[in-house]
Amino acid sequence: QTGYTTIDQGFVNTSSTQSKITYIDGEKGILRYRGYSIEDVATNSTYLEAAFLLIYGNLPTADELGEFDEKIRRHTLLHEDLRRFFDGLPSSAHPMSVLSSAVSALSTYYEESSSVHDREQVEISTIRLLAKLPVIAAYAHKKSLGQAFLYPDNSLSFVDNFLKLNFGTMAEPYEVNPVVSKALDRLLILHEDHEQNASTSTVRLVGSTQANIFSSISAGINALYGPLHGGANEAVLKMLGEIKESGESVEKFVERVKNKEHGVKLMGFGHRVYKNFDPRAKLVKESADEVLTALGVQDPLLDIAKELEAVALADDYFIERKLYPNVDFYTGVIYKAMGFPPRMFTVLFAIGRLPGWIAHWREMNEDTNTKIGRPQQLYIGEPARDWPVR
Ligand code: SDX
Repeated sequence: QTGYTTIDQGFVNTSSTQSKITYIDGEKGILRYRGYSIEDVATNSTYLEAAFLLIYGNLPTADELGEFDEKIRRHTLLHEDLRRFFDGLPSSAHPMSVLSSAVSALSTYYEESSSVHDREQVEISTIRLLAKLPVIAAYAHKKSLGQAFLYPDNSLSFVDNFLKLNFGTMAEPYEVNPVVSKALDRLLILHEDHEQNASTSTVRLVGSTQANIFSSISAGINALYGPLHGGANEAVLKMLGEIKESGESVEKFVERVKNKEHGVKLMGFGHRVYKNFDPRAKLVKESADEVLTALGVQDPLLDIAKELEAVALADDYFIERKLYPNVDFYTGVIYKAMGFPPRMFTVLFAIGRLPGWIAHWREMNEDTNTKIGRPQQLYIGEPARDWPVR
């Protein structure tokens, strides 16, 4: 019998590291980025400013933010060969697979990024990832539509450039809707970091082998893809659509969840850490009403989501298990109203989470106590046996 005899399935009771980046109190529904409450950051900041805060530890001065923004604008172009990378993929490819593959491919253009302790390389890789991930994401979206890729427009803000890359076409000028732009910037802020969630832990684990930052982030994108993690926002919209199409009552669906029929779950509900409410879900729900009203969108799926929440929160099954809406429960309805197809929802989560992944990779990389992630196991297989005579 070697190793430890107890297994902490899913690391529910294991701290893998110490970190200065994000603080969560699951009982009180507290989330802080470098000490600032998520409510304050979401109300007063922007995606790029919050990214700077998470990565460098403090809010930037106006000059620092201007320089950071300018550097990112200057690196939005992809190498022309990389644009052709997308030609080899089917238009049916899920954008999350496109994203992780293209980010991995990105490292082949920057061989020098493999010197993971070269501060200059880490700095330029940070800027390149922040600048190019949205472009890759928009290309994945255009690829799925069979539409021509646009080039980034560096005269626009980060979010407006991203919106134009997704919804603009070569045929006519594109006007960004300020309601969409502001709402998307706020949603991206809400996703920027969340301490040791599965995808961030993946980025740290891969980075702990001294793999370069692009390969580590690509691994994080793959972890986020799963429906139990970032893929939940796409799964929620599918669930709401199925309830609507089936004509089944919300109560009936909830009963099926409680009976665990074919493993059906209430997607967008539950959280490993939050046991009273997810502070982000409250902010997203407020945003859903604001954005749909401002866009003049009436979506029955939002009404179904609100009904589902009300029924679940009044049901002992969910109360006993401390199941509440998480960040993924209402985001899909907003993304849909903005014009994004469901398969792009988790891509939006990835763009949001990128600054957190980068911040954690850098913190891990700078920590001289970092050891390669290599947990023990409890062996329960065959005892030693002789090779058969054949
Ligand atoms: C994200 O970690 C993070 O911070 C993640 C995230 C981030 O910002 O990075 O916040 C983003 O991933 C949010 C979660 C998105 N996933 C979903 O919405 C998928 C549905 N949720 C579940 O899969 C689940 O709630 C998890 C994965 C989120 C949390 O799972 P845990 O902590 O491992 O809890 P568990 O699976 O052990 O469940 C405990 C009980 C079980 O009941 P019993 O079998 O003991 O009777 O609650 C039940 C579960 O069956 N349960 C659910 C449920 N979630 C848990 N039952 C119905 N529907 C659900 N959604």
